[in-house]
Amino acid sequence: EAGGHDGRPPRLSWSFAGPFGSYDTAQLQRGFKVFKEVCTACHSANFLYFRNLSQPGGPSFSEAQVKQIASEYQITDGPNDSGDMFQRPGRPSDQWPAPFPNDQAARASNGGALPPDMSVLAKARSYHVGFPGFITDAFIQYQEHGVDYIHAVLTGYSEPAEGVTVQAGLHYNKYFPGNQIAMPKPLSDGQVEYTDGTPQTVDQYSTDVAAFLMWMAEPHLDARKRIGFQVVIFLIVLSGLLYFTKKKIWKNVA
Ligand code: HEM
Repeated sequence: EAGGHDGRPPRLSWSFAGPFGSYDTAQLQRGFKVFKEVCTACHSANFLYFRNLSQPGGPSFSEAQVKQIASEYQITDGPNDSGDMFQRPGRPSDQWPAPFPNDQAARASNGGALPPDMSVLAKARSYHVGFPGFITDAFIQYQEHGVDYIHAVLTGYSEPAEGVTVQAGLHYNKYFPGNQIAMPKPLSDGQVEYTDGTPQTVDQYSTDVAAFLMWMAEPHLDARKRIGFQVVIFLIVLSGLLYFTKKKIWKNVA
């Protein structure tokens, strides 16, 4: 129950946290498996293209693996020469196919609720900490809040608290704002097969898929942190040089 009573997600430690953090490739690959086999049945990820899965700093699948993954999906293309739309196997250059043709269809299949697009979910959901946004922004915003929140929601299903009546079609969740969520508990132990010996638990799946969603929302995090560090080193060296230059130039003035 630690950290849960006020509805604030417990803080986890993430490989990509801190100024020198970077993504854990094996974790991103496991997270992708959970995303692909579970989440994408309901959620879209419109900013994701298959080819992104092999770009540096991400799950780093090989190009052959990406071709294989893409080819498992049927993509609507066209119009062809006779003006018809048609289906063909996916290619690395295709957008990740959405599970529903539009929001209305998505709502119709989810009891009226819209599963949010996952492209930037790890960033977009960083504000649910129970304070007005400007306070959150100024004082308690931290980079990993979004992933902590996703992990918390996925592991936060339980029997309703004493005296709480859950509306029909909703599910009690300790961390979702208002505690009643339309998403049915999506994960259970053993549901997704891991081939690297990592425990197949709800907690582990939730951590891995949250990390994957973080990469999807911030694919250039690794490069950004590396370049930021190099820039700081450069500025330190430059400051030193400028200091001695200044001393030399002004040496004869009073
Ligand atoms: C909402 C993640 C699978 C349907 C959410 C939210 C998160 C999430 C974090 C809350 C967003 C917010 O704060 O507004 C995931 C992940 C999944 C997954 C990581 C895979 C492990 C599914 C599945 C379904 C689904 C399989 C459909 C059966 C929904 C719906 C909502 C939602 C309808 C909106 C809930 C509401 O507004 O009450 N999902 N989800 N999700 N999800 Fe999922």
